[in-house]
Amino acid sequence: MKIRAVYPGTFDPVTNGHLDLIRRSAALFDEVVVAILRNTDKIPFFTPEERVDMLENVVQGLDNVSVTTFGGLLVDYVLQIEASVIVRGIRAVSDYEYELQMAMMNRRLSSKVETVFLMPAEAYSYLSSRLVREISALGGSVHGLVPPVVERQLKRRHDGRPHGE
Ligand code: PNS
Repeated sequence: MKIRAVYPGTFDPVTNGHLDLIRRSAALFDEVVVAILRNTDKIPFFTPEERVDMLENVVQGLDNVSVTTFGGLLVDYVLQIEASVIVRGIRAVSDYEYELQMAMMNRRLSSKVETVFLMPAEAYSYLSSRLVREISALGGSVHGLVPPVVERQLKRRHDGRPHGE
């Protein structure tokens, strides 16, 4: 039986930590669907279309990985596409409480879906999309923290603006 896994998130923007987890998931599961949440309470920095474009760029060459968006409940989406696993990353103990709560709630919503936690490489244990956005907005370098396509998009968005705007 083939196992299809969903790696959900906001990916605003995708970082090298996310990419590390995508690669690890692709090695473990037959198929990995990277699913970008379309609607959140927060106003995103990049549009869903921009996030899809960047992610599609970075997963090129990973034949069993696809990129899509989803709305509504994650478990509903997972069942709809006949996947059985949700992949989430745990960088540090501080992530665990929130992730455990979400995993347990998703299990309550559907016992057919299993959450699997993966750890990214140690080098990415302190990396987050929020910090990347902040550093970039304030004129700092995010080189090595995000894929080149994301670095270019961040630069394009911030070029010509005073730092912090
Ligand atoms: O990258 P993030 O922001 O940590 O991802 C959070 C995400 C998208 C996995 C989570 O917010 C989610 O699953 N949202 C969909 C709505 C849902 O199913 N909520 C109940 C979760 S228990």
